[in-house]
Amino acid sequence: MSKAINVAILGATGAVGQEIIGLLESRQFPVKKLKLLASPRSAGSKLSFCGEQIVVESVTDDSFSDVEIVLASAGGSTSKEWLPKAVAAGAVAIDNSSAFRMNPEVPLIVPEINPEAAANHRRIIANPNCTTILMGMAIWPLHQVEPVKRIIVSTYQSASGAGAKAMAEVKAQAKAILEEQLPSTEIFPYPLAFNLFPHNSPLNEQGYCEEEMKMVNETRKIFDAPQLKISATCVRVPVLRAHSEAVNLEFDQPFPVARAKEILSRSPGVKIVEDWQANYFPMPIDATGKDEVLVGRIRQDISNACSLELWLCGDQIRKGAALNAVQIAELLLARNWLKPSISAAVTV
Ligand code: A2P
Repeated sequence: MSKAINVAILGATGAVGQEIIGLLESRQFPVKKLKLLASPRSAGSKLSFCGEQIVVESVTDDSFSDVEIVLASAGGSTSKEWLPKAVAAGAVAIDNSSAFRMNPEVPLIVPEINPEAAANHRRIIANPNCTTILMGMAIWPLHQVEPVKRIIVSTYQSASGAGAKAMAEVKAQAKAILEEQLPSTEIFPYPLAFNLFPHNSPLNEQGYCEEEMKMVNETRKIFDAPQLKISATCVRVPVLRAHSEAVNLEFDQPFPVARAKEILSRSPGVKIVEDWQANYFPMPIDATGKDEVLVGRIRQDISNACSLELWLCGDQIRKGAALNAVQIAELLLARNWLKPSISAAVTV
């Protein structure tokens, strides 16, 4: 067991922040002192950790003086504002936002895929986008055996990706619609209950949205495969907290389905869920609250002998965010990588 350390959670009151608190407790992360940080809106509220009620504090310049690891999940602008201060105070930051992910000095880590890349951190380590993590978990073990040439992915993303308020909004919309009222929208641009829409992040000149380009660029960085061909279509669906993805993988030669199943069945963090007789495959309700990415419908693409099709579901808040971040913290402790090997902090 590693020595206990002081941990802060920035965004502790959010959907991911609260999951991180639960994971630190259930995984017995060696916490000496836990500091819960959020906006002034939640200062003074209390959250429970290991039987103790901890008062949430508004983040300030002094928040990080005695902190060794800060797990941040309060959005990109909050990370950009506060993580340089946390790092300057001597903390190592594990950031869930997209603020630093593509910074070449910042490792982008999925512990089951590229743990070694965390060794050279400069005090900020980024947690990838949720859809990217879930897809990578299913593809990486196959890619190790036979490099993937091209990935075509369509996502079915839950409300939780937009935070706790978005989840509450979908519930309120569903209630309003069932009561024959007009649903109101605040977080999402359109009603999500009983509806779906292409992911509403900004579009580039090629017609891809930011979320889709995160899947492209982040997967290439994590896999260290800058030329990997990827095309993504991201869609928000009225599911509360687990994402689903339909993935088509093209290889240089046929990849036998039985071999793919055998590889995935022994891959950490992946669970094959398939009952072809019963037509039972991964569903968001089964993935909710689970650590593993559930993978099923693994089949040969009838239109291309060198391609496989698969379907996956994973808890967006857990492996897609909070669990992956806590696993990165565990990795730093287990490998004794808390102190950066390169002394200068990341240039931000
Ligand atoms: P608060 O609850 O005080 O607004 P989610 O992604 O589920 O919406 O959660 C966002 C998290 O980020 C919440 O804990 C929220 O705190 C926190 N947060 C948002 N803006 C700020 C900010 N400017 N400073 C600190 N924390 C923030």
